[in-house]
Amino acid sequence: MEILIKKSDITQLEVDAIVNAANKSLLGGGGVDGAIHRAAGPELIQECRKLNGCATGEVKITKAYQLKAKHVIHTVGPIWKGGNYNEKQLLKNCYKNSILLADRLNLESIAFPNISTGIYGFPKKNAAEIAVNTIRKEAQNLKSIRKIIFCVFDDENLEFYKKLL
Ligand code: AR6
Repeated sequence: MEILIKKSDITQLEVDAIVNAANKSLLGGGGVDGAIHRAAGPELIQECRKLNGCATGEVKITKAYQLKAKHVIHTVGPIWKGGNYNEKQLLKNCYKNSILLADRLNLESIAFPNISTGIYGFPKKNAAEIAVNTIRKEAQNLKSIRKIIFCVFDDENLEFYKKLL
């Protein structure tokens, strides 16, 4: 089992699944969600329209169309509201539910963006700790996953992840 950091646009990664930091509608948006939809092409939104949205902390999977990845796991991170609205548990659920779904589907590699740390305003250091701790814990019980990538986009997140891994 390999857990690594990559500074990259997540749409460029050749993995079995990339995770999308989506919103509850699953109908696209800005940030990494916008980048994924642009790179996947219009078929992705067509498939997403059939999914009836997604609750915060939960996951739904689609094909990846024009992306280099094979699947997109859409998860909805919490909007940061100061920390007293279950934000930490909900962020943890995003990482846990994504990795468990990928493993259940016998996927071998997965890449995560820094969920909720952009438009949704989750403090980056805190979010990185939750991401790394949750994945390290779950990694002990996985059967098919061989490679887990934390895909960072900005230098601030890169520094936090480097310190943790
Ligand atoms: N590849 C990898 N990471 C990226 C990319 C990319 N191409 N683009 C941005 N990031 P955000 P959120 C990083 O705002 O905070 C959307 O509108 C970015 O630097 O994309 O969960 C959705 O539809 C940041 O570290 O997601 C929702 O409405 C991280 O991705 C809302 O934004 C997450 O930032 C979700 O907000």
